[in-house]
Amino acid sequence: MRNRRWIPIAAALAFLVPALAQQAERLAPFVPSPQMVVERMLEVADVKPGETVYDLGCGDGRILIAAAREFRAKAVGVELSEPLVKQGREQVRRLGLENRVTIVQGDLMQADLRPADVVTVYLLTEANDQLRPLFERSLHRGARVVSHDFRIRGWKPERVDEVVVSGRAHKIYVYLMPPHKG
Ligand SMILES: C[S@@+](CC[C@H](N)C(=O)[O-])C[C@H]1O[C@@H](n2cnc3c(N)ncnc32)[C@H](O)[C@@H]1O
Repeated sequence: MRNRRWIPIAAALAFLVPALAQQAERLAPFVPSPQMVVERMLEVADVKPGETVYDLGCGDGRILIAAAREFRAKAVGVELSEPLVKQGREQVRRLGLENRVTIVQGDLMQADLRPADVVTVYLLTEANDQLRPLFERSLHRGARVVSHDFRIRGWKPERVDEVVVSGRAHKIYVYLMPPHKG
C-alpha cells in the first residue's frame, strides 16, 4: 500500500528530471547575419577547403551553407530552435550539401568544439563571457573565433573589420587561439 503512493511521484520525477537536465538558456534571439557579413566573417577567418567551421546558434544555417558552398569547408551548426533547425536542414538538403553540413538541435554550451578550426558566433557579450572558458579548454592552437558585433571580453582581437549593410555598420572581431589576453 505504502509503495503504491510513490508510483505517481516516481513517474513525475522520471518525466521531470530529464526535462530539467535538458533545459538550455536562450543566449540570443534569432537575428540573421546579412549575407555580406556572413561572407566577410568567413573571409577574415581565412577558412580553407576541408577545414571545419562551427556556427554556435546557427539560426537558419546561412553561415554553414556559405562555408560549405563558397569555401568548401565542412560545417557544423548547433541551434536550439526546432523550426530553425528544420528550415536549415531542408535548405541543406535542397542544395545537396548533406555530406558537408550537419545541424545539431541542442544547447550550444554543450557542444564539443575540439574538431573546430573556425567558430563563428553572433550572440550577446554575456553569452560570449560564458563561452570563453569553453573556447579556451577545447579549441586547438591556430583555431579562429569570429564574432559578429559582440567582442569577447578579456581577449584582444587579431583583427576588427567592419561591413556596412543598408547604412548600418556591422563589426567583425577575429581571435586566434591561443588568444592574447587583455
Ligand atoms: C543572432 S542569431 C544568429 C544566427 C546565425 N548564427 C547568423 O549569424 O545568422 C542567434 C541564434 O542563437 C540561437 N541560440 C540562442 N541560445 C542558444 C543556445 N543555448 N543553444 C543553441 N542555440 C542558441 C538562437 O535561437 C538564434 O538562432
